[in-house]
Amino acid sequence: MEPVIPDLRAVPRAEAYAQLLAMQRLLLDDHADAIAGMATVSALLHHAFGHLWTGFYRVVEPGRLLRVGPYQGSLGCQDIAFGRGVCGTAAAERRTVVVPDVHAFPGHIACDARSQSEIVVPVFDREGTLMAVLDIDSPQKAAFGEADVAGLESLVAWFARTTYVPLPA
Ligand code: SME
Repeated sequence: MEPVIPDLRAVPRAEAYAQLLAMQRLLLDDHADAIAGMATVSALLHHAFGHLWTGFYRVVEPGRLLRVGPYQGSLGCQDIAFGRGVCGTAAAERRTVVVPDVHAFPGHIACDARSQSEIVVPVFDREGTLMAVLDIDSPQKAAFGEADVAGLESLVAWFARTTYVPLPA
């Protein structure tokens, strides 16, 4: 049986991510499949923190198009162009984007009207090629800070260690 995902909402964020990193190692370190990794990371984060939406947009046309991948939560948009919304901005600029108030972010794409704040983290493969972005939406304003940036970047570093090489789109 798989372990139960702990409720980490009351745990200091740095400690919470350390716990999730340990679980991720147990679950994924013998694996090398990016989709399995995305599904597992989505489930861990979503249930530990009770986010609104937690999941991945995959690069299906390098430099041009993201498509929804494994996620947990309400329905996400299917496709997002590079440069559009928070996800497309993080993908185009290859950097983590933290948005404390989505209503103040020009071009924010509202997949769920309850979303108030958002963080998007780029995911690189072992060659340093952008393969996806991890997107998390919260129903609370300013839900994400420095500890989330550090914690999420350390979780997605798994994708750069895996031997999985995605097939060309
Ligand atoms: N809000 C995102 C779109 C994806 S959904 O929220 C799941 C954006 O602006 O890129």
